Amino acid sequence: LRAHLTANPRTPIAPINRRLFGTFVEHLGRSVYDGIYEPHHPSADPEGFRRDVIELVKELGVSTIRYPGGNFVSGFRWEDSVGPREQRPQRLDLAWHSTETNEVGLLEFSNWLSKVGSELMLAVNLGTRGTQEALDLLEYSNLRSGTTLSDQRAHDGHPEPYGVSMWCLGNEMDGPWQLGHRSADDYGKLAAQTARAMRAFDPSLELMVCGSSSASMPTFGEWERVVLTHTYDEVDYISCHAYYEDHGDTAEFLASGVDMDRFIESVIATADHVKAVRGSTKTINISFDEWNIWYNERFEKVDKIQGSQNWPVAPRLLEDVYTVTDAVVFGSLLISLLKHADRVTSASLAQLVNVIAPIMTEPGGGAWRQTTFFPFAATSAHAIGSVLPISIECETYDTRTFGSVPLVDATATHDTEGGSTAVYLVNRSQTDAIEVSIDLGGLVLRSPSARTLSDTDPLAANTLTDPNRVTLQANSSLTQSHTTLTIVLPPISWTEIHAH
Ligand code: AHR
Repeated sequence: LRAHLTANPRTPIAPINRRLFGTFVEHLGRSVYDGIYEPHHPSADPEGFRRDVIELVKELGVSTIRYPGGNFVSGFRWEDSVGPREQRPQRLDLAWHSTETNEVGLLEFSNWLSKVGSELMLAVNLGTRGTQEALDLLEYSNLRSGTTLSDQRAHDGHPEPYGVSMWCLGNEMDGPWQLGHRSADDYGKLAAQTARAMRAFDPSLELMVCGSSSASMPTFGEWERVVLTHTYDEVDYISCHAYYEDHGDTAEFLASGVDMDRFIESVIATADHVKAVRGSTKTINISFDEWNIWYNERFEKVDKIQGSQNWPVAPRLLEDVYTVTDAVVFGSLLISLLKHADRVTSASLAQLVNVIAPIMTEPGGGAWRQTTFFPFAATSAHAIGSVLPISIECETYDTRTFGSVPLVDATATHDTEGGSTAVYLVNRSQTDAIEVSIDLGGLVLRSPSARTLSDTDPLAANTLTDPNRVTLQANSSLTQSHTTLTIVLPPISWTEIHAH
């Protein structure tokens, strides 16, 4: 099969915000404990953080990290996680039926963030708590000194304010599973009140209001309209969350990026509708602060912990093992985020270590890269500058939910200052290689190279016993003639073409 792609470097869609390459660390399963933090591990540093994990997080190239939840945050008392460690309480975590030891709290996590070089994005509890507790956390985190809370932070070991600028106003408040789940009307009022109060402390904060926890929620669309009607003047972003899995129809799964495109475009339309109704000049952007592949059904059936006397510490939860096919879909989700870089200006891959994660660890043992690690690391490293508008001519295939879907999806980026260019492509065909010719609108690339993720076994994965089974391979089919590149994309594959 053949396809043709044309990119236009003269009319870029938007500059790429580095915050698109954020991730998420929730106190859930083995994400923190026995994940980033394992004091008795041979690679642990003096603060108990695994050095091998720190190195992998740096290699992944993560900008912001959303913390500490997720569903966890909706029952979280932030005060439990600061102050002398030996005095911190053990608490039930109702969201994940676990015990939270509070051994790692704000101070420890922020120390870890400086080791990996990422920015903190904090979520406040608007489930079981409200405006006052959010204000207290803000004062504790961001006020230099002179009040009980700010002086307590200095006493706790962090004299400088944390200076957190990005704040999520709760988590998935549309979901009946969420502690403190509310109607759009009730949540919108609470979020507006909290945002106003937080801005009274610092008008420059960047505030995210909860959108729907997925586009398939029965309240999707109306939730966004009502919540934004209450909060439009107070917030900067509305959140989107989306998880995809193969329900047994791989052709459909491979088209997940189409769903993400439509989801983003629907939320933009709704936000702009509220803008029009209000006659506002302000534009609300999207924080896609949870996205990934997640085999949700597998987790529900096999792993759910039960029993009112059974609250394990750091149980193995949501430890999905990702295949090559998963990573190809994952790469197409990154393409979807980039294509909408004009409005999606922040995103968080959910999550980072052990829990639906690109990085896995074994207690006392190794740390390794899942298949999804590779598209994220490559895109974060090389999608620099601006996203270019592209058009693709290729064959399509039929799907049950999304109708006719192009076999190839792609995006391109170009940095006029540094001169680097990158093209990201997926081939959704399960049977055919596709030869793609690429016209970059006059750009001539210096020594372009290509790397592809594919395998004769699309279900191949990296595991504890075979951690390097899948990796990116050089794609030697790439050629350049004048301003046209040509490359062959194997079936079910994700590819990066890159040149400095
Ligand atoms: O990322 C796992 C969970 O997915 C988060 O806690 C929640 O916000 C979402 O439902």
